[in-house]
Amino acid sequence: MTTSRSDQSTALNPQAQTFCSWFNLDVPIIQASIAGPAGVDLAVAVANAGALASLPLTWDSAESACDMVKQVQAGTNEAFYVNYVLNFKPRSLEAVLELGVPAVQFSWGVPTPEQVAQVHSSGAKMGIQVTSGAGAKAAIDLGADYLVCQGVEAGGHVQASQPLEKTLAQVLSVSGSMPVLVAGGITTGHDVRHMLNLGAAGAVMGTRFVATQESLAHADYKQALLNAGQDSTVFTVCLNKGWEHATHRILRNDSVEMWEAAGCPQPGQRPNEHEIVAYEPDGSPIERYQELTPVVGMTGNVSALGMYSGVGVSKINDLPTAKGLIDQLSQEFSEAG
Ligand SMILES: Cc1cc2nc3c(=O)[nH]c(=O)nc-3n(C[C@H](O)[C@H](O)[C@H](O)COP(=O)(O)O)c2cc1C
Repeated sequence: MTTSRSDQSTALNPQAQTFCSWFNLDVPIIQASIAGPAGVDLAVAVANAGALASLPLTWDSAESACDMVKQVQAGTNEAFYVNYVLNFKPRSLEAVLELGVPAVQFSWGVPTPEQVAQVHSSGAKMGIQVTSGAGAKAAIDLGADYLVCQGVEAGGHVQASQPLEKTLAQVLSVSGSMPVLVAGGITTGHDVRHMLNLGAAGAVMGTRFVATQESLAHADYKQALLNAGQDSTVFTVCLNKGWEHATHRILRNDSVEMWEAAGCPQPGQRPNEHEIVAYEPDGSPIERYQELTPVVGMTGNVSALGMYSGVGVSKINDLPTAKGLIDQLSQEFSEAG
């Protein structure tokens, strides 16, 4: 039996209550931006199940971004956020703000004052991912409504270089009553409760949502997550074709093994640098060390690509629907309260 919203809210700290009330959430659980596996179906299912859904839009054209936003709006009346990695130009920001997205979350940089003004004048909430107390202070000064504190335990491209709990303490020392979400290695409702007890307003989960029925991750990637154990992830700069100088955490695979065996040489000198290992759904070739993640429709040796994963992967043992997962997390969260 899942706990009702009123039961849950009594067990929330004030920052979590604020965050949940902004977005009418049943639980302080947030789907991370998981570019590749994320799509409209996952976002709609997450939003309708009472958690905060996400649409990562960094690499989409304005046309395709708007199309996805409209499809999510048609599928749910509940809230979701869009995400932009600011190492790249946020091409669709203005267009999706016009469609009335409820929130925008930036990572890997801070928005310009003009972008901040655009977000706020549209009425959307603005979140900024931070990885230190100084970063938190800068984001607050810019006008963030909430912060996302990422730890080095995270899957995907990892802005962080410190453990989550250490960074959270630094961020909370400057954030006052502002909601601070946490991201990195969180996979169970017990983890969520633990983070709220430390002062977080909600838990952002990426890898856990990759392993769901609605996720667009390739079946081999989902299976690799199920097979993974405690030592299966690696924090590296190995797969950097397409996004240079960005650390990432992935499941250890033959690309990493080959590169490490050769002494971790620089781009251009890596073993099998131009080998085609897989193909996009449209048949375009994908070279070894490209930073793409395996999604439905890709063919070839997709496990040589970046199977992004956080350190919590050893606790993922099933592929539930998004609703089944959120119900399970909510129950664990309540039990741990
Ligand atoms: C497959 C995948 C894709 C990701 N893509 C993005 C992205 O587009 N933008 C972003 O800010 N973070 C991205 N991340 C990082 C997540 O936002 C989040 O910090 C991370 O998933 C949290 O760690 P966890 O996977 O252990 O839950 C991605 C993570 C994964 C696993």
